[in-house]
Amino acid sequence: MTKEIKRIAVFTSGGDAPAMNAAIRAIVRNAFNNDLHIYGIMRGYEGMIDGNFKRLETTDVSNIIHRGGTVLKTARSQRFLTLEGRKQAYENLRDNDIDALIAIGGNGTFTGALKFMEEYPDVRVLGIPGTIDNDLFGTDFTVGFDTAVNTAVQAVDKIRDTADSHNRLFFVEVMGRHSGFIALHTAIAGGAGGVLIPEEDSNIDDLVKLLKRGAKRAKLFSIVIVAEGNHMGTVYDIARQVEEKIDVYDDIKVTVIGHLQRGGSPSAFDRVLASILGFGAVEALLEGKSGAMVGIRHNAVHLTPFKEAISKSKPLNKDLLRMAHILAQ
Ligand code: F6P
Repeated sequence: MTKEIKRIAVFTSGGDAPAMNAAIRAIVRNAFNNDLHIYGIMRGYEGMIDGNFKRLETTDVSNIIHRGGTVLKTARSQRFLTLEGRKQAYENLRDNDIDALIAIGGNGTFTGALKFMEEYPDVRVLGIPGTIDNDLFGTDFTVGFDTAVNTAVQAVDKIRDTADSHNRLFFVEVMGRHSGFIALHTAIAGGAGGVLIPEEDSNIDDLVKLLKRGAKRAKLFSIVIVAEGNHMGTVYDIARQVEEKIDVYDDIKVTVIGHLQRGGSPSAFDRVLASILGFGAVEALLEGKSGAMVGIRHNAVHLTPFKEAISKSKPLNKDLLRMAHILAQ
């Protein structure tokens, strides 16, 4: 029989993502609905180690659903990677009588959670996928991805105006250290002339061929979306190499959208997703679930063991990629 839980804590960890606040709100409100005491841990695992806990009331999460960032702050903790760090974190949880945790973050967050659970199995832990990268196995979407793509597409739309006016080729770098989800969706929605992602081997000659084909059909400007984790080098290297092989544009420019993609008011899609997952995580804890990421699959809440979520790579939709290449021509 699983032990009844009374006090849970929520924290955000790793890179922030729009709608993390909506997830926190849903967790707090559903915890209250079930007469649970709820704590917020500031700055992720760092705050767990420092004992930076804050009792949350339902009013603490009023007026945050529309805000980007995370009201609980976040960090990439090096100390939690050590045995001593995790021991200190455990002792702080014990001192505060916390019997369950909800971690909102990405791969690094869940890797830490799994290690912690192996050492301290009496604490129940569930995760919510919160990262703009959308790179977690077991969920169709991660919290923050939709907003990040919308931000990137708005930027591309603006670049398109100036690219068109000047007959220029633009390389636009979007985030995604290990995955091309943001790049692929931005390329499709932004009507890009090419896309370079980590999941695919590309080369300069093929890219130049594609751009020249477009130029032959009087396409006098173009925009190529480059995921930061692509295998061809930095966006500046790529632009320089292309410049040496092509002379159809008036000029070649590079734009790195960077951390703009991580901020801003979350989209309605992300707010709804975060609410569903936050609400669902509390329900799952009450049902005795632990050691899993609470994601969404085919429009329904779906739990994936942390082990699988962090070790399996989420496949990019090959049909979408094929379509993006064809539409780019
Ligand atoms: O994982 C989210 C992410 O935004 C990646 O896309 C990006 O590579 C990385 O975080 C940047 O991390 P930081 O803000 O720590 O530089």
